[in-house]
Amino acid sequence: MTNEEIRALADKYLVNTYGSRKICFVRGQGTHLWDADGKEYIDLFSGIAVCVLGHSHPKIAEAISTQAKKLLHVSNLYNIEPQVLLAKKLSELSFAKKWFFCNSGAEANEAGIKLARRYWYVKGTSKPHIITAENSFHGRTLATITATAQVKYHQGFEPLVPGFSYVPYNDVSALEKAIIPQTGAILLEPIQGEGGVITPSENYLKEVRQLCNEKDILLIFDEVQTGMGRTGNLFAHQGYSVEPDIITLAKGLANGVPIGALGCTEEVSQGFSPGMHASTFGGNPLATTTALAVLDEITKPGFLDEVKSKGEFFLTGLKNIAKSHPKIKDVRGRGLMIGVEFDEAVSPIVSKLAEKGIICGSAGPNVLRFLPPLIIEKEEIALALEILETTLGELGW
Ligand SMILES: Cc1ncc(COP(=O)(O)O)c(C=O)c1O
Repeated sequence: MTNEEIRALADKYLVNTYGSRKICFVRGQGTHLWDADGKEYIDLFSGIAVCVLGHSHPKIAEAISTQAKKLLHVSNLYNIEPQVLLAKKLSELSFAKKWFFCNSGAEANEAGIKLARRYWYVKGTSKPHIITAENSFHGRTLATITATAQVKYHQGFEPLVPGFSYVPYNDVSALEKAIIPQTGAILLEPIQGEGGVITPSENYLKEVRQLCNEKDILLIFDEVQTGMGRTGNLFAHQGYSVEPDIITLAKGLANGVPIGALGCTEEVSQGFSPGMHASTFGGNPLATTTALAVLDEITKPGFLDEVKSKGEFFLTGLKNIAKSHPKIKDVRGRGLMIGVEFDEAVSPIVSKLAEKGIICGSAGPNVLRFLPPLIIEKEEIALALEILETTLGELGW
């Protein structure tokens, strides 16, 4: 089928939640993608921060095919060897000593919200109130759109889940003022992704942690987008030397096989007891085997240092471009999570770059967002920068 034929069927048969999409990818290899018409692209978006090891990675393909021939699914009525091995490995690599597996980022955050509320309930304290940040994004379930502060995600879905309030990101005093005796948790992305690749100002996360300690409030970091090496640390919070009580993961964890995860301290895990939370598919043999293979690769010595170095290279290149393009207001990010803020909507650049074989995205209307596979080479980044600069010139930007 051609791009056009697939698009016609999509328009006819899919619920229109994604708008009209021109490109249909049929194949990927490393950092390259091919569409149904045979056109080749460099992928600088990784399926929104998912394919950290790029496409058709031999180790991932092998893990999936071996597991598919052995056992795909048995439910969580039974123990699953790769699931416990994944929990062990994630525990060795982080503050979190207990893990729960689900299937997506929204579900991981949903579990985090439930666990925080239940933890205080079990302790005999009523602290269901949760504070989140403006410009956040935490998912599309009812509780996670409520946690996501922007009204555009709420309209028409009311009544929302009670017990949430919102503060500006990077503002500790606003956070302090929003705390009430019933506040049990603060939920933040260490770097806001969908909101525009907003990085925390110096000491913000440390001060939030301190506030949580003083006021006896749980700190939840949503690392669905920032996790799995994206920022040059395995988890972004490690780069800021701040530990939460609960972490949520998804996206890159199994390189495209759906999985979500919640990690927490031993103490906080006591909020859940048998029957309190569950998932049919969560942490099944296929997803957890694949996640183990991803972790094997990204924890290899030097891998994350390379992400940092390639991220610096990309950021510096973009900052150089910004010098001669006044429509660029800011270039920011960490590791290979990078945003370029313009003084107008970036959709024309995203489309024009796709025409030229570069796949990237936006974060909010004015921020061009790059989330390339972590295996990208500097030569490919250099080529992408060259194409970006030419495209900006052609657009008169
Ligand atoms: C920070 C963050 N949290 C949660 C989500 C929701 O993840 P999912 O789409 O897997 O439900 C996303 C998705 O973009 C995200 O970026």
